[in-house]
Amino acid sequence: MTGNRTFTMIKPSAISAGHAGNILAMIEKAGFRLLALKLIHLTRQQAGQFYAEHSAKGFYEDLTRFMSSGPIIAAILEKENAVAEFRKLIGATDPSKAEPGTVRNLYGISITENAVHGSDADLTAEREGSFFFSQLERV
Ligand code: CMP
Repeated sequence: MTGNRTFTMIKPSAISAGHAGNILAMIEKAGFRLLALKLIHLTRQQAGQFYAEHSAKGFYEDLTRFMSSGPIIAAILEKENAVAEFRKLIGATDPSKAEPGTVRNLYGISITENAVHGSDADLTAEREGSFFFSQLERV
């Protein structure tokens, strides 16, 4: 069974370049409804905790340094088959391999600074959404 929620973050480089509004507009235009939204500057430790599953990977240090370098926007999104639909909208992890017109193709700079994060499964979406939002902060 597929769920109807996913979780995303707009990454620091996309926010500092002034793309947050355009990215949120693309998300809404693609039919996602915002269930929760916040702008927050993560500490290095919080970024490390969020990406803990990658802690053994070579890119982990760069990723957590980058993700704590400036504010991010975190959001819980709703749409039928949300995880897969959102991954289609954002494109491949590496912006140079992302389909034309996808968020990462348009706004990503590198595999680390790839504009947005998107959950990879329903369970991950639930865990990641709960990392940022309490029950009170969701509609
Ligand atoms: P994201 O969707 O936020 O999830 C994990 C992140 O690790 C990924 O996007 C990339 O920004 C980052 N990353 C850096 N290097 C790699 C790599 N070689 N393979 C996968 N992800 C990478």
